[in-house]
Amino acid sequence: MSQLATAAHHPENTTLNRRGFLAGTTAAGLTLLQPGLALGTQANSKVKLGIVGCGGRGKWISKLFMQHGGYEIAACADYFADRADGLGEQFQVESARRFTGLSGYKRVLDAKPDAVVIETPPYFHPEQALAAADAGCHVYVAKPVAVDVPGCLTIADAGKKATENKRCMLVDFQTRASELYREAIRRVHAGDLGPLVSGEAVYYCGTTWGGDEALGANATNPENRLRGWGLDRVLSGDVITEQNIHALDVAAWIVNQDPVKAYGTCGRQGRVDRGDCHGNFSVIFFYPNNVVISFASKQYGTGYDDIGNKMFGPDGTLETHYFGLVRIVGRKSYKGGNQPGLFTEGCVANIAEFHANILKGDCSNPTVAPSVRSNLTTILGRTAAYRGGEATWDEIMQAKEKLEFDTKGLKA
Ligand SMILES: NC(=O)c1ccc[n+]([C@@H]2O[C@H](COP(=O)([O-])OP(=O)(O)OC[C@H]3O[C@@H](n4cnc5c(N)ncnc54)[C@H](O)[C@@H]3O)[C@@H](O)[C@H]2O)c1
Repeated sequence: MSQLATAAHHPENTTLNRRGFLAGTTAAGLTLLQPGLALGTQANSKVKLGIVGCGGRGKWISKLFMQHGGYEIAACADYFADRADGLGEQFQVESARRFTGLSGYKRVLDAKPDAVVIETPPYFHPEQALAAADAGCHVYVAKPVAVDVPGCLTIADAGKKATENKRCMLVDFQTRASELYREAIRRVHAGDLGPLVSGEAVYYCGTTWGGDEALGANATNPENRLRGWGLDRVLSGDVITEQNIHALDVAAWIVNQDPVKAYGTCGRQGRVDRGDCHGNFSVIFFYPNNVVISFASKQYGTGYDDIGNKMFGPDGTLETHYFGLVRIVGRKSYKGGNQPGLFTEGCVANIAEFHANILKGDCSNPTVAPSVRSNLTTILGRTAAYRGGEATWDEIMQAKEKLEFDTKGLKA
């Protein structure tokens, strides 16, 4: 069967050793830094990937992994067979290594890839990332890492486990890979704005997600919910967690602290699609030392798009835009620049960094803890906004509220 075919291709010990080699944990492993010397062929030195989630992002990112040159796709999984086949056909993954159903990702792990790329709806990221880390794989995971507090804590555990086991784990935020963002925020942390006082984070866009037709046919059918996951609060975490995290992650990076509390509101007016996700959020986040971030987002209409942050201190202002300018204006200005192609370039940089870290054996995994913090920040804001009132960090961390998706009726 498929696993046997895979096992024949990747005898367990060889693969495990190979992953150890790729983590650079032994002197022998470091010889793989020179492709061709240790295993004889350049092809053998490629990082073998298992792709989990073969939808829009899964296919798009697979192409970037292939363009890097240091990877090959060994297996793939999607709940739906047509999606797994679609990616499989495009990247010549043999049909015996295309897996389906909710447990398809486990069959990918059985196939012993070096690394797993997780591009499923956020609800499934914690379970799949932890299983991949437990299986001794390197893990590359899309944002947001989770939809609820328990999921965030699971991701934090997966990251710790990966580091302990000398495996790499990277969360794919494009902004964190940008040299412009890195330099600007390094200067903010060095004190170039003076002590931080207040700032803003915004995420304005139009209708984003497909799946409306599937929900129109039957909104409670679980397969339809999977197809329309971006319109589903439980599977996506709602707009503030699923989309707006790009802005709130930058805010969390700038402030570099957990918020103490948040006050917020949200609504659905303006949206024309189905589902139960909101169309706008307005939240004020309160940080230690009276630092305040005001956050606003919308996901409807047209005319203005931005994923932007501003941070003000007595000595200057930091301004960032995902699709545009990053700069500091003030006593110690930083000219910065524009990175209009960050959507792709950030991802290309993350893919290259993931590969370099695997070969160097750098398993410090610096993207995991910040991604958990910003994800929790979105959940704090969401909790406050759903209430139309206040929520505290301590309260949500104690409550550990779990969002539940009933998988009854789905294929295992
Ligand atoms: N800029 C960015 O960082 C960026 C951009 C787009 C998407 N994303 C992220 O990528 C992820 C995937 O988004 P997408 O746009 O590709 O969605 P998509 O719906 O196009 O693809 C998701 C795929 O996952 C499959 N799936 C659902 N449940 C599954 C399960 N339990 N096991 C296996 N497969 C399952 C679906 O059938 C679908 O094919 C999300 O986390 C999203 O936030 C990030």
